Amino acid sequence: MTQENSSDMTQETENGGSDLFNTAAGWVLFAAGLGLGLSILADKYFHGYSAEMPENPGYAIEVVEEDGGGPAEMTMAEALNMMDQSELVAKGEKVFAKCQSCHTVDAGGANGVGPNLHGVMGKAFGANAGFNYSSALTGAGGTWGWDEMNDWLKNPKGYINGTSMSFAGLGKIEDRAAVSMYLNANGSGLAVPEFVAAVAEGEGEGEEGEVAEAEADQNAAAETEEAVAE
Ligand code: HEC
Repeated sequence: MTQENSSDMTQETENGGSDLFNTAAGWVLFAAGLGLGLSILADKYFHGYSAEMPENPGYAIEVVEEDGGGPAEMTMAEALNMMDQSELVAKGEKVFAKCQSCHTVDAGGANGVGPNLHGVMGKAFGANAGFNYSSALTGAGGTWGWDEMNDWLKNPKGYINGTSMSFAGLGKIEDRAAVSMYLNANGSGLAVPEFVAAVAEGEGEGEEGEVAEAEADQNAAAETEEAVAE
């Protein structure tokens, strides 16, 4: 009897203990859930907020975006025309902060890890005589136009396999356009490609309508002439 009781007691104590444990675990779960909820809310809040942050908040570290997925990015021509040219040059100067550890851009500037880039737009690949380029770059044989610069800055090693430029690339077309425009403004002056927005569908239909109306007018005139002749 005594023994049974004592074993009951032990069980009760154990049960009591596990209830207490369950309650505690419940609170921990609840707290974790609350934390998660709050962090989701915070995420939403800060995302919403970051949309209003300046386009170029200082020294953001660029992550190269994966190809495919997400909305198609604009063309280089569109990106070059998205804002006033002088604004784009100013934006490009900021982007160039990422290049400055290796490049100068002023006339007669020193070569560093990378060549001086004064007047590079419109020049042949690897044309700076004082710089020891990789044979990959000089062997690629091309000229730095807008599209070449876009492809190069998006993924240097992807564009010229074996280049010695150790730079991951600029993920955003806006940044590539801006820094290309900045390079162009420093000793080059290539013409900026025009960007013509696609014509909205409604406008085309309007023109057809006008043609139809003009034809109708001619028919009416012809009928009138016939009527007069009779
Ligand atoms: C870590 C150093 C480094 C950084 C950062 C870097 N570059 Fe370079 N860059 C190089 C090197 C080295 C070369 C020469 C590549 C070769 O010979 O293959 C080069 C070559 C180039 C060339 C070709 C020059 C020519 O005369 O043909 C251009 C254009 C260029 N870089 C632009 C940029 C721009 C714009 C940035 C910033 C967005 C940048 N680079 C960032 C090291 C760098």
